[in-house]
Amino acid sequence: MKNLPMPNTQQIAWMRDIRRHLHRHPELAFAEFATARFIAKQLGELDIPCREQVGRTGIVASLGSRKKGAACVALRADMDALPITEQTGLPFASETPGVMHACGHDGHVAMLLGAAALLKAKEAELPGRVVLIFQPAEEGDGGAQGMIADGALDGVNAIFAGHIDRNYGLNEIVVQPGLISAFTDEFTIEIRSQGGHAAKPHETADSILAAGQLITSIQGIVAREVHPCLPAVITIGKIHGGDAANVIAAQVVLEGTVRTTSPETRAVCIASLQRMTRAMEQLHRVKTSFFLREGYPPVVNDPIAARIATEVAAGIVGQDMVKGQPLPSLGGEDFSFFLQKIPGCLVRFGARHTKLHDAPAHSPRFDFDEKALSTGALFLAQTAVSTLERMKELRGPAPNRA
Ligand code: NI
Repeated sequence: MKNLPMPNTQQIAWMRDIRRHLHRHPELAFAEFATARFIAKQLGELDIPCREQVGRTGIVASLGSRKKGAACVALRADMDALPITEQTGLPFASETPGVMHACGHDGHVAMLLGAAALLKAKEAELPGRVVLIFQPAEEGDGGAQGMIADGALDGVNAIFAGHIDRNYGLNEIVVQPGLISAFTDEFTIEIRSQGGHAAKPHETADSILAAGQLITSIQGIVAREVHPCLPAVITIGKIHGGDAANVIAAQVVLEGTVRTTSPETRAVCIASLQRMTRAMEQLHRVKTSFFLREGYPPVVNDPIAARIATEVAAGIVGQDMVKGQPLPSLGGEDFSFFLQKIPGCLVRFGARHTKLHDAPAHSPRFDFDEKALSTGALFLAQTAVSTLERMKELRGPAPNRA
């Protein structure tokens, strides 16, 4: 079928209004009730049937061929906000104190609805089925897993998504085959002693001294134990211990995250963290506990899906606006759970604002250039169509994907 057209003026205004409505009414992970209702209403107005409460607060819609065995491509948008108090001063700033769309997921929903409108206009011509996945809880709770468990990927052959990114210029599209994000495990370490009088250290063990030494020792893991050519980060982001200047603290709690890109490096870091924590018992006469919370696996883009995405992107924004991402980000993204099931590709949509409005993602002043919405919508819709047309390549023999 012919390439889809850019969204028209009406559709662009409609997407902007959707983004601003969601921005004004952000909701945290698994509490996206009003967001889901709003999305279902928009889909209803487009005459696209949808299933609600998938993976708790998610939505799955589909359009195109209903034939059994028809090729099927999914497009995914995440829809949760962050526990941040907005300070942008925008006329459509969050009306919910302490909650803000500071990662652009409001834009992702607007883009996917925009893609839905473009696809709906050509529904009769679609060379297969397109599934739209509106996913809750990307920001740490792994909402993708619940969507998969509730059948969001049933019959789906490939999946695509995009993330708004102010590190790239407006309308740049970043496509990179292979690994682009990290394992995101988190840990909690408890160090305990009896506590005691600050002037009588010989009567007890000192949890704060042990914590101080442990923090310093942990920095040796990446520097001395991990293969120097493989990326790894261990950050301790939280420390709590002690109550008074004249008391030896009975307990210190440390919390941190381990970011790695290979299972081997991940195993080294976790084992070393455990070993060093235990070693404090010998060294400082304290008791310790180590808890690991497994995070997301890395996003690994399928090479053939990435090739299709690259070609579609070049067709929309021009070859010189299509960028690679040669170094992986050590951030996390739960789109990886979908990619563990079927091939696909996550791209980044450049959306840097003017200097005046530029602020990092996950910060209280984050905003993006809304002109990226129409590019994103067209990219998603056209990628779905092109992938349906080229499904044979994706289903090709394994060596093709080496
Ligand atoms: Ni995000």
